[in-house]
Amino acid sequence: MSLDPWWRDAVVYQIYPRSFQDADGDGEGDLRGVVQRLDHVARLGADAIWLSPFYASPMADGGYDVAGYTEVDPRFGTLADADALIEAAHARGLRVLLDVVPCHTSIEHPWFTQHPERYVWSDRDGPQNNWRASFGGRAWSRDERSGRWYLHSFYPEQPDLNWREEDVRSAMADVLEFWIDRGVDGFRLDAIDHLMKDPDLRDDPPASAPPALPEMGECATLDMRHSRNAPDIGEALAVLRAGAGADALLVGEVYLPADRLAPYLEHVDVAFAFELLHAPWEAAAVRAAIASALSLQGRAAWVLSNHDFPRLPDRVGAANVRAAALLALTLPGPVFVYQGDELAMADGPGREPPHDRAGRDRHRHPMRWDDDAAHGGFTTGDPWLPAVQVAGGSVAAQERDADSVLALYRDLIGLRGGLRGGLRFVDTADGVLAYRRGDEHLVALNLDDRPRPAPAAGAIMRFTHAGRCASGSPAPLELGPGEGFFARI
Ligand code: NOJ
Repeated sequence: MSLDPWWRDAVVYQIYPRSFQDADGDGEGDLRGVVQRLDHVARLGADAIWLSPFYASPMADGGYDVAGYTEVDPRFGTLADADALIEAAHARGLRVLLDVVPCHTSIEHPWFTQHPERYVWSDRDGPQNNWRASFGGRAWSRDERSGRWYLHSFYPEQPDLNWREEDVRSAMADVLEFWIDRGVDGFRLDAIDHLMKDPDLRDDPPASAPPALPEMGECATLDMRHSRNAPDIGEALAVLRAGAGADALLVGEVYLPADRLAPYLEHVDVAFAFELLHAPWEAAAVRAAIASALSLQGRAAWVLSNHDFPRLPDRVGAANVRAAALLALTLPGPVFVYQGDELAMADGPGREPPHDRAGRDRHRHPMRWDDDAAHGGFTTGDPWLPAVQVAGGSVAAQERDADSVLALYRDLIGLRGGLRGGLRFVDTADGVLAYRRGDEHLVALNLDDRPRPAPAAGAIMRFTHAGRCASGSPAPLELGPGEGFFARI
């Protein structure tokens, strides 16, 4: 790893292609649509984009059920469209990260019938053990064709690959190499805490404490020591690193607290800081979650929302989204921004019947580009999920408003380039979180629902609400609920 890699303090913008922009009018976003909207990402000041999967897929899990790792699903376009997107992003100075899903394939991947040895099978007529699937139910299902039972850590449509098979390792390394050769700059590696399991497939013991991070379904009733995170995980990760090459950025989606990430960080560059994503919006809890991730010495990837969890207004409260942006964008290390966060987009109603059985449609409604256009400018067709209004207005509306959340994101990303040095917490009033960045900057935010005293600071560089306190003015003595600032010391 180079001493000063490009991603050290990068802002990575997550694009969920199905919901970003539809170019062909079929109601679903596509790769040509992404190209049409790249200027928005560049204007935001992002350094890179991460594209959620656009590979061949029956979409049982929104594309995380891959039926062809080197093919573009026709709903998203063609391989030529992917090449054009990579080129268009690079032309705007944006690096490109793809999402690789190495833990499982779609049940419709040809490997499942042609190479059954690449999967994990029970040696009996029934589940091999008591493991539970992340989205509920048991982690074993019967394959109707062969009558045998296969393992799936997620939906039954996503059989787990057997990473102890040499064939699986080399095939997946080839996948990463394929995309590197097409010019991508790195990968977000999906669910890699599930890659290696206990070789003897032993039962998970009952849980003796609540899980370190929230779990769905019955997973929380088990201590998942055998179904995930086997001690020899490094062997699998070394293969992924070899496929990607030393220079590619590897971002691990490792659903574990920071103190269990060390074996992953021997091979991947950064791992998401999920403790912060799940922390209740309270100063002490947020501070503890940040402190935990800071122990990783710059190897935490900050993230406050993505396509799997409630959107920011629903999680931290609409009144706190500006303070959340201030927080995320002033932490040391790479930060991931989910499309729509820059508008303070909230969860939508989802749809009946749902696309996603685990209830995540609500976090995936289409981007809101223009309130005056049909479906917010997302599509000229019939959108796959309703194109819902955003309280603060569309991109076009927020661009006209100097005090919009979009303006705040742009300003903070711009100022972020000037942040130097590590983070040191400053003890201050209860309910307020404050920290210094290096010797020049101070960040403070009020997470309480009452006005609280602000720590002493110099001139304001950006207040969460520009209309209430202009840049250049002296720091206020008090912060209202949801307010915060980035100031000189
Ligand atoms: C994590 C992805 O973010 C999520 O959307 C997916 O359902 C699971 N991994 C399984 O691939």
